[in-house]
Amino acid sequence: MPHARNLVVYFSRTGITRRVALSLAAALEADIEEIVEEADRSGLRGYMRSLIDVITGRPVRVAPVRHDISSYELVVIGTPVWAASVSSPVRAWLLANRSQLRRVAFFCTLGGRGHDAALAQMGSLAQRRPLATCAIAAREIRRGEERRLIDIFTHRLAYKCARLDELEWMA
Ligand SMILES: Cc1cc2nc3c(=O)[nH]c(=O)nc-3n(C[C@H](O)[C@H](O)[C@H](O)COP(=O)(O)O)c2cc1C
Repeated sequence: MPHARNLVVYFSRTGITRRVALSLAAALEADIEEIVEEADRSGLRGYMRSLIDVITGRPVRVAPVRHDISSYELVVIGTPVWAASVSSPVRAWLLANRSQLRRVAFFCTLGGRGHDAALAQMGSLAQRRPLATCAIAAREIRRGEERRLIDIFTHRLAYKCARLDELEWMA
């Protein structure tokens, strides 16, 4: 059986990015891949470890991918914002898998600051310009705006993909 056209890839330390990733995967009828690592990032120690990893740029090890990334037309990649940067596991994943990516889109979740820098960094690491980006901050989740932002993002992606399909078909 052929698999989905789209893949959602994400890392989540405390579950917020995971929840958005699952909603996105449902809306895009996408397969889903969680970025997994050995490091324990739970609790205060995990928070400190994450902060040190991201500030020092220390390389982290992530598990090999389960899906064939190059076989997906669109890969949507999600990260929590760490110190106004992409999280270290997503950074490692992008460096390891960027050569397999075709069309990409990025999303992030955050407390409140740093999404522009984190999303720009994802583009540099992936060496791709994203079709669309989406940032969901804690205050937007509190105000119940998460669903609306996800809908805007998925509609924009559907539109961009349809336009690109059309252009490729005409070429
Ligand atoms: C080490 C670390 C650094 C963080 N730095 C930022 C930051 O610079 N700006 C921000 O808005 N939130 C920051 N946060 C908060 C997370 O981005 C936010 O809680 C996110 O939604 C968590 O997603 P998750 O539950 O998927 O791990 C940081 C969290 C951690 C663990």
